[in-house]
Amino acid sequence: MKPAFVFGTRPEIIKLAPVIRAFEERGVEPLLIHTGQHYDYEMSSVFLEELELRRIDYHLEVGSGTQAEQTGTAMIKIEKVLMEEKPDVTLVQGDTNTVLAGALASVKLKIPVAHVEAGLRSFDRTMPEEINRILADHASEVLFAPTEEARKNLEREGITENVYVVGNTVVDAVLQNAEIAERKSDVLERFGLKPKEYILLTAHRAENTDSKENLRRLLEILEELPVKVVYPMHPRTRKKLESFGLWERVEAIENLIVTKPLGYLDFLKLQRNAKIVMTDSGGVQEESIILNVPCLTLRYNTERPETVKAGGNVLVGLEKERTLSHVERLLSDEEFYKKMASAPNPFGDGKSGQRIAEILLELYEKGELNVRSSRFI
Ligand code: UD1
Ligand code: UDP
Repeated sequence: MKPAFVFGTRPEIIKLAPVIRAFEERGVEPLLIHTGQHYDYEMSSVFLEELELRRIDYHLEVGSGTQAEQTGTAMIKIEKVLMEEKPDVTLVQGDTNTVLAGALASVKLKIPVAHVEAGLRSFDRTMPEEINRILADHASEVLFAPTEEARKNLEREGITENVYVVGNTVVDAVLQNAEIAERKSDVLERFGLKPKEYILLTAHRAENTDSKENLRRLLEILEELPVKVVYPMHPRTRKKLESFGLWERVEAIENLIVTKPLGYLDFLKLQRNAKIVMTDSGGVQEESIILNVPCLTLRYNTERPETVKAGGNVLVGLEKERTLSHVERLLSDEEFYKKMASAPNPFGDGKSGQRIAEILLELYEKGELNVRSSRFI
């Protein structure tokens, strides 16, 4: 069997690495296609190195652009590779433009698509990611839903065939790397931090960073946080802050340490030892509950509602009062803190990658890995 993996951004590399490894352990060498949606060393190569994915078969160098430019260029380049290589299945993960491009290019060549992390919905169609996930799910033949909730979202849209609830491969990634990170990373020493005495922050989503007003609201929150904050900043956010003339204001915040984006081992260690995580990232919301660190999400919705229901995550949006009052309570009310920190992980046991490889190999052996003319059989 010849599976092709199409990926292009930081979270896709992290969450697909366990699936790639699972195939390799079964003697299958997958084809690795990197679109180059992320291209800075610290957004891409660092993860390929740390997660030992050194053999990339195709670097497509798509780079940045408008939504259509990026998706369209990726589609054109992915199609060429798929036509030449003729894989048996194309795996994509998540909700980026790379995912949409990979899924559309593949299904139209009648190469079945397997979508890892299928069925997530924020129910906010103004987010590019929501459009990407809906379309990718509907172009896919095999859907790997991380949770029962995600499976139900697919069912509501009429997708019931070849849907497997397998957990989220983010758990595999955390379990495979958290101990290594603890041993190898000296990130706390580098930034002069003590465990459980700082907040870890990430914010990069378009809805938070593309408007000056929203970035200003984020800074107003940061200016009042009562403990040290470490912010490994996505290049998108940095560029926007600079272009809106807000960079000097960032530099003036006393409690704030801004760094370049960090490698996975440094980031995992920072996350595990943080007192609180504040984020608009999908993957970081998931990792926080796995690592037992309370998470405040700087958004008004989430496609990971399981984390909120479990009690480990609160949606605070960019509401200053709401955010600060949660931070203060987490710092002063031990019971409240413990309750959030001990929320159960809803994303499975860390064997998702193994399950995905097994299921695809079995479908292939049975001759059932094909693009069927109708889903509604
Ligand atoms: C993309 C995903 C988002 C995901 C994120 C993971 C889409 C629509 N969005 O957002 O869902 O959460 O990846 O991090 O696919 N840039 C660099 N260097 C890089 C990459 C990007 O400087 O290596 C800058 C460029 O100015 C670029 C901007 O960041 O225009 C945005 O990059 P892009 O890949 O379009 O979207 P992300 O914000 O990274
Ligand atoms: N991450 C990282 N370094 C950083 C910030 C995040 O390694 O400086 C990892 C994090 O552990 C998680 C993933 O990147 O696994 C999340 O990616 P991101 O927030 O870019 O995307 P999203 O999950 O929102 O799509």
